[in-house]
Amino acid sequence: MMELKTARLLGLLGLLLLLLPVLAPARELAGVGLLLHAAAAGAAADGKAPPSTAPAQKFVLEPLPYGYGALEPVISSQIMQLHHDFHEGVEYVGTLNAVLGPLAGTGTATLPDLVGLVGRGGLPPDQELVVRNFGGGHWNHQLFWKVMAPPGSANTSRNNISPSLAAAISGGFGSVDEMLSRFKLLADGHFGSGWAWLCAAADGGLRLLDTANQDNPLMGVVLKDPCVPILGIDVWEHAYYLKYGPKKPDYTQAWLRLINWAQVSANYDAARRGDLAAIGAAF
Ligand SMILES: *[C@@H]1O[C@H](CO)[C@@H](O)[C@H](O)[C@H]1NC(C)=O
Ligand SMILES: [Fe+2]
Repeated sequence: MMELKTARLLGLLGLLLLLLPVLAPARELAGVGLLLHAAAAGAAADGKAPPSTAPAQKFVLEPLPYGYGALEPVISSQIMQLHHDFHEGVEYVGTLNAVLGPLAGTGTATLPDLVGLVGRGGLPPDQELVVRNFGGGHWNHQLFWKVMAPPGSANTSRNNISPSLAAAISGGFGSVDEMLSRFKLLADGHFGSGWAWLCAAADGGLRLLDTANQDNPLMGVVLKDPCVPILGIDVWEHAYYLKYGPKKPDYTQAWLRLINWAQVSANYDAARRGDLAAIGAAF
């Protein structure tokens, strides 16, 4: 226990050092209001409510929807614990709270709103990088946990693929097998840290693509028009190296057994409604 606490403290210290260049200039902190104004302006254009005076809202690490060991033997309990608690919790959510937390609650901006602004103007450059890397990291991981289910469990059966998702997959790729084989090729071929995605475009059509780091296809740095992720595989080394070493294709092959088709179908419906908070992190 002590060792874990010490490790976390050291992790936090390292993180603060990493963040010093972001946090140091006082004018940057004075500029944080811009972020919420930008998001609120976007929201107002959609006819949503103007900024409210709701109590401060912190970015929250949601618990996993299952135990750390639930995805064994495909993903080890140790990997799940480090991945969720440290990488998502300490690194991504911790940094969001440290940098943007003081602003949260002073506007209507939620994480999905902010992530969609990356690369589309309106975010001050230093905040944009925090939203892109750490906000993207938080949103992406919340999707990731939800689109997985224990191997062999009912949710991994393809019988859960909804008629609308089945039609979009066969329209776009011919078959589920063909879609998954292209998805796996993108994941295997991705150079460096990143993700492979299945996403829904505005017309409901599906696309496959891979992105670097914590970028995703909601972001303007990736696509001009957003494509909403409904399935994603994390191919950062932290996702598999402790179990698979350099054999990434073995990880991606085993991972296909974890796909929660009930959730991917629900994500497709949410994408069609534009409900990004139902898919990844809500805030
Ligand atoms: C199946 O997946 C759905 C959608 O993610 C989830 O709400 C439900 O709890 C899962 N069922 C089980 C038994 O895990
Ligand atoms: Fe990850």
